[in-house]
Amino acid sequence: MLLEAALACASIIVGAIVYSTMVYSTCWSHIKYYYIGTVYHFHDIFNIRRNKIDLPSKPGKVAIVTGGSRGIGAEVVKKLLQCDMEVIIACRTTSAGEKLILKIRESGVASGLAKVYKLDNSSLESVRKFAEQIKTDYDRIHILINNAAIMFPLAYNKTEDGYEEQWVVNYLSHFLLTSLLLPLLKSGGRPGECSRIVNVTSCAQDISTINFEDLENGSKETSYTYASYGQSKLAQTIFTITLQRLLQEKSLNVLVYAVHPGIVITDIFKDTLIGNNKWLMAAWKTPDRGATPIIYAAVSEDIERKGGLYISNCKEIATPSLALKEEVQERLFDLSLKQVHLKDFFQYL
Ligand SMILES: NC(=O)c1ccc[n+]([C@@H]2O[C@H](COP(=O)([O-])OP(=O)(O)OC[C@H]3O[C@@H](n4cnc5c(N)ncnc54)[C@H](OP(=O)(O)O)[C@@H]3O)[C@@H](O)[C@H]2O)c1
Repeated sequence: MLLEAALACASIIVGAIVYSTMVYSTCWSHIKYYYIGTVYHFHDIFNIRRNKIDLPSKPGKVAIVTGGSRGIGAEVVKKLLQCDMEVIIACRTTSAGEKLILKIRESGVASGLAKVYKLDNSSLESVRKFAEQIKTDYDRIHILINNAAIMFPLAYNKTEDGYEEQWVVNYLSHFLLTSLLLPLLKSGGRPGECSRIVNVTSCAQDISTINFEDLENGSKETSYTYASYGQSKLAQTIFTITLQRLLQEKSLNVLVYAVHPGIVITDIFKDTLIGNNKWLMAAWKTPDRGATPIIYAAVSEDIERKGGLYISNCKEIATPSLALKEEVQERLFDLSLKQVHLKDFFQYL
């Protein structure tokens, strides 16, 4: 009897500790996100005048935008069309891409050429198929914008390739896509006018790490989703810096940038507390203003020959220190190669 009572007490105490740890870690993750979001929101406000670029005319240039059918990506597409480029909207629902083209045309933008291709970033098979199609239809591309993302899914999801969903959609699919399209980017670049890869990252990386021991970040706990979003975004920046170094070593005319678009009113917040209280977003950037630093990284002459930068509001800002550590860069690169089943990132060149 005494033993049973002791065991019952012990299990209640253990349960309470586990529960409060979960609540605490979820709250702590929330607080960290609100803190970094507020810091960068003020960065947007103080740099409102910097966040602009005159759109240059770039006829004959081809750009790809993943997640290009809505949100910030849709505004990136519009601006690239205003630059008179040929723009490939890579999206998982092609009818949404077609609708966007009509909307942009109705808004009065007549320049450029827009096309829609199917790409589901949650599937590495879809990435391969998309890249195959692009390679059949084009012999060079000039700009690749790795923008598609999801944030804080309500439930833990494993993709068909066996990895956590945010890791695949936000980072791993773009790692593979970049490798597959590198031959076309190489052909598109020339000295003084390099082709460019823009990885759309997030300030969330500043409060994140790469949890090599458990990339799923304890998938059973609710806090996993916060850790995993920031981790995927940090991975994009680490990849940016590693790739820039490798491209330079190979003397390829390709530049890579990581861009935080700003704190922007989009549906990416739909499952968050803020997303359900839209008035809280009133002073945030519009998607049009969020697209501006991405366009800056894609076309500005100011940063020609200065790849590997982390950009916010059209200027370079400090890269998270973890991203500068060579052992972390190498570990992530090797792990990513394994996960996408590539022997060598440059094997298609
Ligand atoms: N909004 C912000 O404040 C903010 C801040 C920092 C960084 N960012 C970054 O900015 C980028 C754009 O975000 P956003 O705010 O524009 O978000 P959004 O409005 O939710 O748009 C996300 C885009 O990604 C696409 N996408 C999602 N899952 C996909 C999949 N499996 N395959 C293909 N496409 C998929 C979506 O297409 P569907 O229509 O098919 O879902 C949509 O086009 C993201 O990389 C995000 O991390 C945003």
